[in-house]
Amino acid sequence: MSRQPSRPRKEKRIIVALDFADEAGALRLLDQLDPAKCRAKIGKELFTACGPRLLRRVHERGFEIFLDLKFHDIPNTVAGAVGAAAGLPGVWMLNVHASGGGAMLEAAMAAAGAVQGRSRPRLVGVTVLTSLNDGDLAQMGLAAGSARDQVLRLARLCAGAGLDGLVCSAAEAALLRRELGPEMLLVTPGIRRQEDSPGDQKRVMGPAEAIAAGADYLVVGRPIARAKDPATALETFRSEIHGNFPNLS
Ligand code: C5P
Repeated sequence: MSRQPSRPRKEKRIIVALDFADEAGALRLLDQLDPAKCRAKIGKELFTACGPRLLRRVHERGFEIFLDLKFHDIPNTVAGAVGAAAGLPGVWMLNVHASGGGAMLEAAMAAAGAVQGRSRPRLVGVTVLTSLNDGDLAQMGLAAGSARDQVLRLARLCAGAGLDGLVCSAAEAALLRRELGPEMLLVTPGIRRQEDSPGDQKRVMGPAEAIAAGADYLVVGRPIARAKDPATALETFRSEIHGNFPNLS
């Protein structure tokens, strides 16, 4: 029987995005990081290039994995994919597109819950990609409201289907926390310290600010992965969080 994951009140908040084209780059970074201090996110590029073998390597190094494959298909297919992903080594969190609809979300949740012998992975929904604005949504026939309304609508769909949480921009975290209550996990990318370059992120937020807005987990890529000293960069993110919220962990 799978077990319910517990709330992340005293946990590692930072998820380092392994945005690399190959295994060597990803493992070189992980060899410099402490799995007691962060988790690892594997996305479409790295997974497509390296497959499940890489997950085993990452898991062997002690890291819990957010498998960021954003499944979106008919319910039966997504259920199969989520079931397969949930059984891979080290998968602690995975995600689906909320716009796949209520039946797809429920099927995904049932498949995540069916994992045997260990705590089931957390399943989080992606609402509106942060790369889309109101104009893009109108072009796609979703002109009835703003991107913000669409985020809320899809977030409620995820909550209704029993998902554990959402991937959202830190700018949406306070609204979603207010609307959905304390239980939904909020996972926010686009996190930067004062000294970090935003890169292609348009709206960024500091780590402590994002936690204050209601985020549970912060996805951080380049500011740690491309730092000269990734371990020190991770430490500064952690101390910004824990300096402002000493009771977090
Ligand atoms: O390097 P950076 O910190 O910008 O990386 C952010 C990570 O979060 C990347 O892996 C990116 O694909 C992911 N992400 C994002 N915005 C979203 C969803 C995921 O930046 N809305």
